[in-house]
Amino acid sequence: MVCIRQATVEDLLQMQRCNLLCLPENYQLKYYFYHVLSWPQLLYVAEDYDGKIVGYVLAKMEEESAEVHGHITSLAVARTHRKLGLATKLMSAAHKAMVEVFGAHYCSLHVRVTNRGAFHLYTHTLGYKRTEKAYYADGEDAYSMRLTFPEGEKAAAEKAAAAAKQQQQQQGSGEKPAAAGAARKAGKRR
Ligand SMILES: CC(C)(COP(=O)(O)OP(=O)(O)OC[C@H]1O[C@@H](n2cnc3c(N)ncnc32)[C@H](O)[C@@H]1OP(=O)(O)O)[C@@H](O)C(=O)NCCC(=O)NCCS
Repeated sequence: MVCIRQATVEDLLQMQRCNLLCLPENYQLKYYFYHVLSWPQLLYVAEDYDGKIVGYVLAKMEEESAEVHGHITSLAVARTHRKLGLATKLMSAAHKAMVEVFGAHYCSLHVRVTNRGAFHLYTHTLGYKRTEKAYYADGEDAYSMRLTFPEGEKAAAEKAAAAAKQQQQQQGSGEKPAAAGAARKAGKRR
């Protein structure tokens, strides 16, 4: 049986090994340490009955951004254990922690345009939407994707409601933004 659990420092070497076997984007061990020391709540592993790590998700919080959001740095499941729902469970665990621990509004990631399996997982299974086009260091095109959490939707709705209220107040005070603009233009013509 495979269990999904939070990763510890002891798992990092096996996570790196799984990454090397599954993906062309590889990282030095210090980058794994950076993740686990900074956001220990956002790293999960899939551990087989014999203690072998057969999948992982390495995630972080983006700190230089106006909106609070998480980012998936890397996700992989060993070939022997694919299509069992492990990636879905690993991603869901990271999403949950992003929201509950850090109050994230959304989660972002990049995926190569040719990676049909991962694209299916992100869009159809998890509900990610494509945003802008991105690219990988080797030049291959990628999609930048985002999953908005209910907290993010709530924040966006509150922002829209505040903007609508402000507009109503402007109209109530007789200052119609469109009419005011037209009057200014007419004034210029005179
Ligand atoms: C992409 C990857 C993480 C998926 O892991 P997984 O554990 O097999 O995924 P799951 O079992 O949770 O499957 C989730 C969904 O994706 C689908 N899926 C998984 N692999 C697929 C493939 N190769 N082709 C088409 N669909 C695929 C599953 O059928 C399932 O669909 P459903 O929810 O409609 O039933 C795994 O294939 C992998 O490690 N690939 C190499 C590394 C990689 O590409 N990482 C992502 C980088 S962005």
